Amino acid sequence: MNSQAIKDKFKDIFQTEPLMLRSPGRINLIGEHTDYNDGFVFPAAIDKEVHFALAKNSIDKFRFYAFDLNESFEMNINELSKSNTSWANYLLGVVAQYQKVGLVIDAGIDCVFGGNIPMGAGLSSSAAIENGFAYAINVLFNFSVDKLQMVKMAQKAEHEYAGVMCGIMDQFASMYGQENNALKLDCRTLDYIYANVNMKDYGIVLCDSNVKHELASSEYNARRKECQQGVAIMKKHDSKITALRDISIEMLEEHKSEFDSVVFKRCAYVVKENKRVEEAFAALQKNNNEKFGELMYQSHEGLRDEYEVSCSELDVLFSLARKSSSVIGARMMGGGFGGCTINLVKREQMESFAEHIAKDYCEITGKETDIHFVQIANGTGLL
Ligand code: GLA
Repeated sequence: MNSQAIKDKFKDIFQTEPLMLRSPGRINLIGEHTDYNDGFVFPAAIDKEVHFALAKNSIDKFRFYAFDLNESFEMNINELSKSNTSWANYLLGVVAQYQKVGLVIDAGIDCVFGGNIPMGAGLSSSAAIENGFAYAINVLFNFSVDKLQMVKMAQKAEHEYAGVMCGIMDQFASMYGQENNALKLDCRTLDYIYANVNMKDYGIVLCDSNVKHELASSEYNARRKECQQGVAIMKKHDSKITALRDISIEMLEEHKSEFDSVVFKRCAYVVKENKRVEEAFAALQKNNNEKFGELMYQSHEGLRDEYEVSCSELDVLFSLARKSSSVIGARMMGGGFGGCTINLVKREQMESFAEHIAKDYCEITGKETDIHFVQIANGTGLL
């Protein structure tokens, strides 16, 4: 992405030289809806990103400009609260987190931001914005907050100012991303390992269903509750169990009769998905791309049939990819109910795959798909 336009706009509005930084969106290879169950995920930052131009001001105001929406926002720094402008809340929510830990923002901030992460496509544009602003404040105010604390602040901003009780995956991947590498993250301990996923013969292709995930936040919070209900049942048998991470499929099967059938399906999905992340990671170490892809297919089937967070358009994209001889793995990605599928596609066939899937998707659903070829990129940082 070219950040010159963001910088020029900033100078145009605020007449001063800004600090420039970038913050990426993320993909997730496998491990969906496992992060808030203390489980494993395997995401990576991508070359779709938000760019920021920022400076402190001496008039005690937050003055924000969303470049892509051509909208401005203003608030006095001593009147910090949630606003009716939803995009501004991602930034204000981060300020609130700094205040909460006692790091005082004692000057106004001017900010212009914009980028090329499609909104509502499951690529974590909101996490990219939260991380970018958290990083910027840390630099502008000379605080010594480390990356992990910024990730946690960004996640809390999403909880408290955007109202989505997300796990930690999106913010973590956006902040810790590393070129060519995905990171296998243990969402309980927050230990992580980078794994090179620059598959020589396969590229990553995202197909956006162009269905905006409106149901996502209510259903997301409902899934979290169902998982907690499952944990409560299992805890009666072993008090050490605190999350679905602690449960094997055998343990779950043994107590099946105590479960409501829906809650059982949800828990079975999470338990199996956690195992798939471990298996996928191991397959990658052995360059077994076919196995990796097969696990992606299984992940989609679980999300569709057991966790029930897919939608008919995502299922169409999945089925078309699965039938294609140029694809070795595909699945829906992110919270669900819309957004993108992620596909591992033979490099020399990426263009023809894109062409065919776009045509077929439109014929079946009457909708357009936006196709993105993505590269794995570095995490949030200065430009
Ligand atoms: C959203 C949330 C993440 C994660 C995914 C599902 O992207 O923000 O924390 O739970 O859904 O894997």
